[in-house]
Amino acid sequence: MNIFVTRVIPQKGLDLLIEAGFEVTQYTEKRELSQEELILACKDHDALLSVGPNKIDENFLKQCSHLKGIALMSVGYDNVDVEAATRYGVPISNTPGVLSGATADVAFLLMIAVSRKAFYMSNSIAKGEWGFFEPTVNLGQELNGKTLGVFGLGRIGMELAQKCKAAYNMNIIYHNRKPNDEAEESLDAQYVSFENLLKQSDVLSVHVNLTPETKGLFDHTAFKQMKPSVIFINTARGAIHQEDDLLQALQNKTIWGAGLDVTNPEPMEPTHPLLSMPNVCVLPHIGSATAETRDNMAVMAAQNLIAVLKDQEMPQAINPEVFHH
Ligand code: DGY
Repeated sequence: MNIFVTRVIPQKGLDLLIEAGFEVTQYTEKRELSQEELILACKDHDALLSVGPNKIDENFLKQCSHLKGIALMSVGYDNVDVEAATRYGVPISNTPGVLSGATADVAFLLMIAVSRKAFYMSNSIAKGEWGFFEPTVNLGQELNGKTLGVFGLGRIGMELAQKCKAAYNMNIIYHNRKPNDEAEESLDAQYVSFENLLKQSDVLSVHVNLTPETKGLFDHTAFKQMKPSVIFINTARGAIHQEDDLLQALQNKTIWGAGLDVTNPEPMEPTHPLLSMPNVCVLPHIGSATAETRDNMAVMAAQNLIAVLKDQEMPQAINPEVFHH
């Protein structure tokens, strides 16, 4: 049996597939495959290892319902029509857990970098602007004892909350679909309404999936309810915030700063005004980009494919009901 891999992935994942006796075709060009190209490639393969934003939608699934399984090398699956996959009987897996620490690190890094205007300050040196020292200029803000608001206290949000508690004894509040008992016990985290999350957070960090409910949720109306001193962090998906509204909120000083590892669209235009603002730090979607984490993601994706190609349930299936019909 053979597997199509949409990008160059860590060798550890490929080795596992090859050792298990499967043939692997890896697409090595540095460009996004169109859906037509992907469908054509999948026609000759039994399974797919998908990296990046390729749309696994009704059209794709209808034409590729022969696939025995699709393993995503990501935790997010907003590019997948899960209901259609289940209907066509195609099991799909993701890579939860293995990237939580790395992604929370990036949220933590952005929080500190924004609080001290670090990226802007660094760029100013290159522009020859390291000038006369003025004690009242270039001031950031402290994080010690401040309130961290986590929107989506799952694995990644929990890792961030733990880091913020340990480093700065931050007070943790969160808004979730359901209460997180572990966080309430171990971090004294407090469940609040979405409105209170907006009103009370000194740092508000987004860790939810992109869904129709969360799409564009952080807009003008949301930013208006936040503290003028708040730092807004998004390491989840760019489409959860309205980028024009965010820019306006920063320009009008409705909010204090923002740290983004995800933008809308990606890549962000090099001339985007957010990139030259003092209280803004933007990274190019590197949440899971450590050698260790990417190895673990490739291995997890490979293990899911090996399972399904050996007629077993995918351990990280996002539509496990496929296996029970
Ligand atoms: C994920 O795993 O969802 C990361 O954001 C990479 O897309």
